[in-house]
Amino acid sequence: MKKVITYGTYDLFHQGHYNLLKRAKALGDYLIVGVTSDYFDKSRGKFNVHDDLMTRIENVKKTGFADQIVVEEYFGQKIDDIKKYGVDIFTVGSDWKGYFDYLNEYCKVVYLERTKGISSTQIRNEHSVRLGIVGNEMILDRFINEMKYVSGIEVVGAYASKDDVDSRYKSVQFQQFPQYNTYESLLDKVDAVYINAPLTQRNELIAAALEKGKHVLTEFPFGFNYQKAVEFIKTASEKGLVLMEGLKTAYCPAFGKMISLVKSGRIGKILSIEANFTQILGENLQNQVRIAGGSVASLGAYPLLAIFKLLGYDYKKVEFITHQENGIDTMTRMNFIYDGAIATSLVAINAKAEGSLTISGTKGYVYVPAPWWKTEYYELRYEDINKNSKFFYKFEGEGLRYEIVEFVRCIKETAEINLLLNHDNILAETKILSLFYEKNNVIKF
Ligand code: CTP
Repeated sequence: MKKVITYGTYDLFHQGHYNLLKRAKALGDYLIVGVTSDYFDKSRGKFNVHDDLMTRIENVKKTGFADQIVVEEYFGQKIDDIKKYGVDIFTVGSDWKGYFDYLNEYCKVVYLERTKGISSTQIRNEHSVRLGIVGNEMILDRFINEMKYVSGIEVVGAYASKDDVDSRYKSVQFQQFPQYNTYESLLDKVDAVYINAPLTQRNELIAAALEKGKHVLTEFPFGFNYQKAVEFIKTASEKGLVLMEGLKTAYCPAFGKMISLVKSGRIGKILSIEANFTQILGENLQNQVRIAGGSVASLGAYPLLAIFKLLGYDYKKVEFITHQENGIDTMTRMNFIYDGAIATSLVAINAKAEGSLTISGTKGYVYVPAPWWKTEYYELRYEDINKNSKFFYKFEGEGLRYEIVEFVRCIKETAEINLLLNHDNILAETKILSLFYEKNNVIKF
């Protein structure tokens, strides 16, 4: 019996896939189809596959050509599968010509002609989200670079208000997009906006976008006006618009998994959280102050995400102990007291401390080393060190691609944000910033 094996993602199953499977089956007597796992696809740069693994497997099954379906989970698995299943022929479409020649050592390699004029990427790119860029801060360059990994979204124009800040702090990529002189004229041309303007301008920008029925992805922090946040969320919900805060940690794979692990009780009841994020910004300090403000506004969103996700929003007390330089909070400790738990966070924009995250419980603790906000590794530690375990997940690039994927998914599927940074979180974060700026429980040192 001649065994054939082929692999693919088979997203949004199309005629090209069908033809390929038919031809693959015709090469032998028994066809094994490897379907990529969601995690494997992400690790090889395919970020917004539309269909989940079960749907993709079902679609392959429905063709009736596959005698066996396996899930492809890691680089190098093809060699293992060929040996394990005694495969005679490995085949794949001609777009991969030459790429899999190394498998000739294990079996025959056949490149089948690819069906012209169709691909999953092409289907995903139909009805792309037309995005307007609002603001030209440095973060935009990273955002644009990360957008290249996400299909289904394209920038159609850009707008930034005139201000007087040195151009070296500006995005170099901003100018490549069609420029709009007014925000309203840009809004007329887009489905959604990405707002990276200074925090003081953002409320007005968010309000106008929602008013015109546009989806919004806005940089963190969401804001310091709680009432405005409540209004925006209400408007977005009533109009069926996506309103998202861009805080990369909330959307990256490892952080979400770490939260679920702790929630599953592996460290017992959580008693304490310590989450720090500190930077010495040097010559970029004034620019950061201009964009967001001091330490709480610039960095507080990260530890607040961890604290709220793990302990909830029902804290009994919060206090801020803050150090000011020229009227700006450059280092602040935020202390939370919950019923039966405490949380503390040190944020700084002109001082340095260990930037780790420690979650302590009655059975053990989780340690996430710095920079925990780009989590790709964490440890579960116990009194008995033999029980310790380590967890690794890849954090791709700058991590912004994860939030862009989620933004596109929510828009296209008119779905609720189902990852960590939902509307409740936005409200809780905004509340903390408003308390701080209104000088509630603020002690200066
Ligand atoms: N394939 C094909 N003809 C097409 C598209 C895909 O023969 N028009 C083949 C590929 O060569 C591969 C298999 O179908 O052997 C699965 O490909 P996959 O990567 O899942 O599909 P694409 O449409 O190429 O997906 P994408 O655009 O995401 O790369």
